[in-house]
Amino acid sequence: MSKIVTIERFILDYQPDYARGEFTNLLYDIALAAKVIAHKTNRAGLTDILGRAGATNIQGEQQQKLDVFADDIIFRICDHTGRLCAMASEEREDFMQIPEPYKKGSYVLVYDPLDGSSNIDVNVSIGTIFGIYRCVDWDLRGRIEDVLQPGRKLVAAGYVLYGSSTMLVYTTGQGVNGFTLDPELGEFLLSHENMRLPEPPAYYSVNHAYYEKWSPATQRYLRWLQGSEGKTGQPMSSRYIGSLVADIHRNLLQGGVFCYPAEVNKPNGKIRLLYEAAPLAFLVEQAGGYASNGYASIMDLQPTDLHQRTPLYIGNRSLVYQAEKFLQEEHSVSGSMTTG
Ligand code: AHG
Ligand code: MN
Ligand code: MN
Repeated sequence: MSKIVTIERFILDYQPDYARGEFTNLLYDIALAAKVIAHKTNRAGLTDILGRAGATNIQGEQQQKLDVFADDIIFRICDHTGRLCAMASEEREDFMQIPEPYKKGSYVLVYDPLDGSSNIDVNVSIGTIFGIYRCVDWDLRGRIEDVLQPGRKLVAAGYVLYGSSTMLVYTTGQGVNGFTLDPELGEFLLSHENMRLPEPPAYYSVNHAYYEKWSPATQRYLRWLQGSEGKTGQPMSSRYIGSLVADIHRNLLQGGVFCYPAEVNKPNGKIRLLYEAAPLAFLVEQAGGYASNGYASIMDLQPTDLHQRTPLYIGNRSLVYQAEKFLQEEHSVSGSMTTG
């Protein structure tokens, strides 16, 4: 019979060599935040009955929007524990130093508290994304340098999916493991051990509504994914949820590529480097995949701005390499036309 392993047990058993209590406990904190957010998202459909987000409740308090609630919960669970020197959230303009008088720790937490927010009101899967870095200078209270680090420096990353069940999937650089929340027990139990992107990949995920705004090479790549432009092998099918976490999760289980390309008037696309692309790039690499902006690994991009966006191609290696091939050919042709 298979063993029952809680996330607490697993984190403890597989903590990296450098991890002291601080790192291990930070992962527990994130699991706790995930449970609180899952509990709230499960009741999201009741807001019309029990009070709409943005409206005033019976105690005269403002009901929070779910993404503000999630942001607040993560901050309040993590700010006073002495494990972090700084945090940065997609929901906040500036990064956050750990406030006095709390002890500061050695790690930095970056997060997208609620991903796929357009899906909240229509009862479609949403998620949370997180990444953990070491502070650059352990003696100082958090500075912008601690937060603006490339994905290559991540020591852990993961996501929580609030779907037909709640799952927490994470990596500390030793593969990827997934845990499913048992709502009765309130425990995350190991359900997906050593996750690897399967071959051959089944799906590509992209918002086709933007087709006319893509460069010719991007359009060719999409036609290649559809089986023309010289693609051989099994034809792929298309799935697009509009919640990055849910699209990545499905592709992780069934193989595929998620694309959010550059557009004519949006050269950096939409996905945020720090809170979305870099943590997921680390996780997908650990599952045997690859993530690129079309020209370089997402993991090597040095962020210069907290809310910087990047084009994103992420999933099975062979599919992402092909995106790079089309885009780089276009780049070198247009480069040689302007220089020649
Ligand atoms: P967020 O809800 O955190 O702002 O992220 C939304 C993102 C991402 O989850 C999704 O893949 C993408 O927006 C969908 O964008 P389009 O509606 O432009 O396809
Ligand atoms: Mn998001
Ligand atoms: Mn978000």
